[in-house]
Amino acid sequence: MPWDAAAITGNAWAPGNILTRSGIGCACATNEQKTRSQMKFRYIGISSFVAARLSFQPRRSTMLQERIADLSKCVEPDRVRREVYTDPEIFELEMQRIHEQVWIYCGHESQVPKPGDYYTVQIGRQPMLMVRGAEGRISVLYNRCPHRGNMMCGDRHGNTGEFFRCSYHAWTFQHDGRLRSIPMMESGYAGTRYGRDNPDCSMKRAARVESYRGFVFASLAQGGPALAEFLGASRVAFDDMCDRAPAGEVEIVPNCFRVIQHSNWKIFLENQLDALHPSVVHQSTGRAAHEVEKQIEKRTGKAPLSYHMLSAFATVTIDKWDNFQTLNYPYGHCILTGYMGLRPKDPDTVAYEKTLIKAYGKQRTEEILAVNIHHVLIYPGLSVQSPLQQLRAVRPLGVDRTLTEIWHFRLKGAPEPIYRRSLAYYNLVNSPATLINADDLENFWKCHQGLASDGGDWVSFGRHHGHDIEKDGAVETAPNCGTSEAPMRNQMKAWAQYMRA
Ligand code: FES
Ligand SMILES: [Fe+2]
Repeated sequence: MPWDAAAITGNAWAPGNILTRSGIGCACATNEQKTRSQMKFRYIGISSFVAARLSFQPRRSTMLQERIADLSKCVEPDRVRREVYTDPEIFELEMQRIHEQVWIYCGHESQVPKPGDYYTVQIGRQPMLMVRGAEGRISVLYNRCPHRGNMMCGDRHGNTGEFFRCSYHAWTFQHDGRLRSIPMMESGYAGTRYGRDNPDCSMKRAARVESYRGFVFASLAQGGPALAEFLGASRVAFDDMCDRAPAGEVEIVPNCFRVIQHSNWKIFLENQLDALHPSVVHQSTGRAAHEVEKQIEKRTGKAPLSYHMLSAFATVTIDKWDNFQTLNYPYGHCILTGYMGLRPKDPDTVAYEKTLIKAYGKQRTEEILAVNIHHVLIYPGLSVQSPLQQLRAVRPLGVDRTLTEIWHFRLKGAPEPIYRRSLAYYNLVNSPATLINADDLENFWKCHQGLASDGGDWVSFGRHHGHDIEKDGAVETAPNCGTSEAPMRNQMKAWAQYMRA
């Protein structure tokens, strides 16, 4: 396989969990690069060998400013310079100016149900943790002890008890990061600047933390829009998911799949709303599923819905994708509408609709089920498929390495078969085990390899360019332009605005 894929459902990050491809080595990495990378990746427990491999970067002899005098020249309305995907220094700037500034998804509140529960998460280059306090409040802290810098939580998730206790010299901290105690504090620190009154002795918090319908985001910057304003129309991802639950909320299903892609993070995001690629990239998978579906139908008189999730990639022909629509918003967010209505008339769906009517009444139920969204992309780090309760969080690791976390959710109060449907989609379409994911990963890797070559300077986003419709600050694709590259143009427009800082 042309990528390293780690399908991990627990804490294990042993090298054996990572399928390595021979031929991509770190022979070009300097010792300094290797050391930096080992430090950078140790917090997620990857072996130093793998960390060194992840650090592979082309040699550069000149500074970024000399090579690319004006970053804004890298982005034109219908094309982008290839360095935007391959230059390690541009990647560092992206982390500073985008990922460590904007609202980044940390996790769902149900991941940390009890006081002391924590989950580690990466925001840009920063190792963070999300923790629930005794009073129920969720904090997001840097995963670092203020004494000598020791990582506070070495496991991916767990329960820290009534307080954090550093494993090095036993400083302890409240769940909100405040210093609680230092061994022999009076005798050791009397007359010094260190103590409970000094904020430098507490664990540093993310500048801002907010939650929308149970989905927790943090920003490492003091300034910027509030979460609701930042999300704007893309809030529909969470509203649609939660509204479909008779209880009005969802619950995370532990654990997630994790995949490390050998490609730049933007390639993954651009693919999410690329409506042209499915009937090309996933055609063979769809055809195989369609054959099996027909055989099952012949044998039993009925085809299982889960096979249809795959066979649709072959039965929806390439021209039909132009019937869909993308809506593109400020900050780079985009919505793909018109594909996954998922309102069949099978007994499971009928029973589910009855529970919704009981909870919301007939009219509201009709409104909820009429929301027809396939995909919502929340730039720069989240891709949500609300009708099937899935999301993928994007964590850039390096200019050519991207971690995606693939999660799914349970609709609270919905019958079990509706959850089984979500699980089937999770396993058949989004998991590292499915051919759909493999189809995409192969192309991501090939894209990155091509962009790293001298075979051309530009990436083209010209499909249906000039036909976009601007309306109330958003950009809609024109009728019969569903395969437009407007979402990529919109993402790069936001990228250029962020990078101008
Ligand atoms: S490094 Fe944490 S207590 Fe010393
Ligand atoms: Fe795909």
